[in-house]
Amino acid sequence: MAFSKMRTALKNRMHSTLATPALAGGAREYALSLDTLSERWVLMDKMQSSPLALADQPPGAEPSARMQEAVSYARRWTDLIHTPSLSEGEAKAIIEESKSNFAEHVNRGWLDYRKSVTEAGDWAATEWTGSGAIFRDILGREYIDCLGGYGLLDLGWSHPEVIACLRAQLNRTTMPSQELLDPLRGVLARLMALITPGDIQYSFFCAAGTEAVEGAIKLAKLYTQKTAFIAALNAFHGKTMGSLSMMGKAAFREPAGMLYGGPVYHVPFGDADAVERQLEVCQQVGIGVAAVLMEPIQGEAGAIVPPDDFWPRLREMTRRYGVLLIADEVQTGMGRTGKLWGVDHWGVEPDILAVAKSLGGGVMPVSAFCSTEEIWQVMMYPNPFIHTNTTGGGPLACSAAIAAIHITLRDKLWEQAAAKGAYLIPKLEALAVTYPQVFERITGRGLLIGMHFRNPEVGYRVAAGLFRRGVLVAGTLISANTVRIEPPLVISYEQIDEVLNRLGDTVREASGLA
Ligand SMILES: Cc1ncc(COP(=O)(O)O)c(C=O)c1O
Repeated sequence: MAFSKMRTALKNRMHSTLATPALAGGAREYALSLDTLSERWVLMDKMQSSPLALADQPPGAEPSARMQEAVSYARRWTDLIHTPSLSEGEAKAIIEESKSNFAEHVNRGWLDYRKSVTEAGDWAATEWTGSGAIFRDILGREYIDCLGGYGLLDLGWSHPEVIACLRAQLNRTTMPSQELLDPLRGVLARLMALITPGDIQYSFFCAAGTEAVEGAIKLAKLYTQKTAFIAALNAFHGKTMGSLSMMGKAAFREPAGMLYGGPVYHVPFGDADAVERQLEVCQQVGIGVAAVLMEPIQGEAGAIVPPDDFWPRLREMTRRYGVLLIADEVQTGMGRTGKLWGVDHWGVEPDILAVAKSLGGGVMPVSAFCSTEEIWQVMMYPNPFIHTNTTGGGPLACSAAIAAIHITLRDKLWEQAAAKGAYLIPKLEALAVTYPQVFERITGRGLLIGMHFRNPEVGYRVAAGLFRRGVLVAGTLISANTVRIEPPLVISYEQIDEVLNRLGDTVREASGLA
């Protein structure tokens, strides 16, 4: 019997035994009588060394040393979380502990890529707190955030109104019952219907962008009963199986091997003729295409803006071929590019829209896929539970998203993005003209901006130099050839000027002229 099955079987028997008071004291012996001796000893052995051991032990049993360590370590950290301030010694100890925890338990490889580790001097920058476009590490060093959590922090760090709303909701309830109607989920879905383009009316809530894209893909399949997708080269849609299949980069797709089982065709982003050719070919050979999935402006590819006729043509041809159009607004949505939605630049109404990141106000993980009443029929009938999750759309997530939407609309954050982008982009372009040996070009719209360098080495020098000067920028995930500038939309003009000053110094240094 497989170990997990064995454990479940024994656990069930022990638990049902323990539920009978007369038998509780003799539970182990009783369980023993139910299994073969050898099975039980293998099991007990594994239970002792398994991290689940404490949960699996009957009441009264001695916890293992590992479990005791876990209890005291968790206790120490719940205390630390409640501690308002730390001494320098404590802060430095936490830095070392964080490095070791990442190396031993999260991902050692990340440490080599993080400027916060490689460029911060003796003490790795360990994030601690922030407000607006400024954050501070645990030693109190201050940074201007021009990465914005890759689009997560449109509202800035810890927006006080989002936090206040979340706190109030925390005091009432935190997670959904799974049976009663949860009002905030309905409110958020209605808000999404009000603010999304076209006839979008229904929403499903989850946490990460990749879940929203997974849902969008599944919905397109359910509705069309077709299997193929058309996506873009260099596209980024997330890293779970379905969304990863749509990814336009071999570095992430290839190592995982076979992903989504249906056909996925990749075409150059911005090339409407190529999309149309692919639709035509699929029609000729009888391959049913469920949807065309694209980012309005490619984010991870380096803030790539398509030609102005691209999205309108996508809309027209997908209707003509009876194919759905999915806009992945995970990074572009909620005002980042100077419109509330990326597709608003071209007045396009997608059939399905995926959104995440700043929907949670930079405070809670919240994502959604949304669509029209017509398409949503397949989510409701015949099986309304065809797509569910347990934690998505919970009251805490929804309270943060409701507050985030309120602030975004009230303060017209997309207008701030447009104006600040219009201020910043020409200055970056001028810098690029002055230093052609450093820059290849500047791309982007609003506050989703790409600085494209001559090569990854010079890009890295710029990103690292900026970090040393207290400005955090976003390289694409595995290359510094393109570095994104993606600050909170609430960044001030003074802070933008300061970034430009420090960038000027950094570029002079990187070009060898400093
Ligand atoms: C356009 C786009 N789609 C999907 C995703 C995946 O989102 P997540 O990392 O939250 O899964 C991202 C992440 O950067 C993204 O930029």
